[in-house]
Amino acid sequence: MDIELPAVRSNAETVVEEDLPPSTVEYLNYRAIEHNDWDLDDADLFEKAAAADLDERDYGIIEVERDEPLLRAAQRAGLKWPFQCRSATCAMCVGILKSGEADMDMNLFLEDEEIEERNMRLTCVCAPVSDDLQIVVNAIQMPYAREIAQNRG
Ligand code: FES
Repeated sequence: MDIELPAVRSNAETVVEEDLPPSTVEYLNYRAIEHNDWDLDDADLFEKAAAADLDERDYGIIEVERDEPLLRAAQRAGLKWPFQCRSATCAMCVGILKSGEADMDMNLFLEDEEIEERNMRLTCVCAPVSDDLQIVVNAIQMPYAREIAQNRG
């Protein structure tokens, strides 16, 4: 008797996050923007940063696995990005995504407008989606971020 087996895709055919190469993440410390009198909205912000001979605390590039939070990858690289709860309930780890895509797997703090219009991301729960991205970190130093951190939750 012939038995019809269900169609099953082998693992080799299934593209999952772990199969993708790490994302290249270029970061810039908000403090360096202030210190150099740059503007967060400068179109060439990261070009200026790359040319400014900043130390790795303020500017650099790290590789981040597709399922790895940006904050954890930064710590693995020896960087000291700010954080507090590590569970998406504060704004201490907030960054501003300037290009590329990065998704949070949870969010108990930011409002939709802050994610969609201001491009804010909680780096403790945010993993890269695109092959490359640029993010301003230590954005808790921004007046707006400080204000919501103090007044919300
Ligand atoms: S450390 Fe609190 S939300 Fe990321």
